[in-house]
Amino acid sequence: MTTIQIAPSILSADFARLGEQVREAESAGADRIHVDVMDGHFVPNITVGPLVVQAVRRVTTLPLCTHLMITDADRFVEAFVQAGANMVIVHVEACPHLHRTVQTIRALGACPGVTLNPATPLSALDEILAQVDAVLVMTVNPGWGGQAFIPEMIDKISRLRWMSRERRLSLDILVDGGINVETAPQVVQAGANVLIAGEAIFGSPKGIGDALARLRTSASVGQISQLHG
Ligand code: DX5
Ligand code: ZN
Repeated sequence: MTTIQIAPSILSADFARLGEQVREAESAGADRIHVDVMDGHFVPNITVGPLVVQAVRRVTTLPLCTHLMITDADRFVEAFVQAGANMVIVHVEACPHLHRTVQTIRALGACPGVTLNPATPLSALDEILAQVDAVLVMTVNPGWGGQAFIPEMIDKISRLRWMSRERRLSLDILVDGGINVETAPQVVQAGANVLIAGEAIFGSPKGIGDALARLRTSASVGQISQLHG
């Protein structure tokens, strides 16, 4: 059975206690740390840059995954890898020379991932799928944490898993936006194997450890339904 990975998104962390919260997520069993980079152009919000990635790198040994929601990804890819990113995820909508961008990320020694906004069809991945390690299916329109999951994305995840199998690729399928104990089983059943979650982990009143454990349990419910489905 595939192991489902959980990647806390620091967008919902308390930035005044970022190091502490990342360490807490690591000891509670998080598999990766997700860093959302927004530029106020590609998305209507501004977050963090390489400096924060560098700071997070110092407090954890977990793989760091940077999700670049920026118009000029090519200009900044190297800075994020140098800051310690193990995976760089770029938006197909923001990269006119996507093949080159993906090659650059790999040449820099990081894992390339691509992502699609909810309205972007999977056909945009046709020519790049075999070159990437991961595809992130956005399950909200990017820009903020704490938004509601878009249910139509379940079918998109299933179709992507089917595409990956048909082409005999071992793609990681990531989901990002509105992932919680209710939506986790559905996305896992559809074929996602990496769950990114912000509010459900850092916003949980019972704390990071409890939230991670509950998310993991709910993901295994999705795996069981997948086996029986
Ligand atoms: C949204 C970001 C997400 C965000 C998810 O634009 O890409 O990574 O942190 O947050 P939640 O899990 O709160 O929807
Ligand atoms: Zn993200």
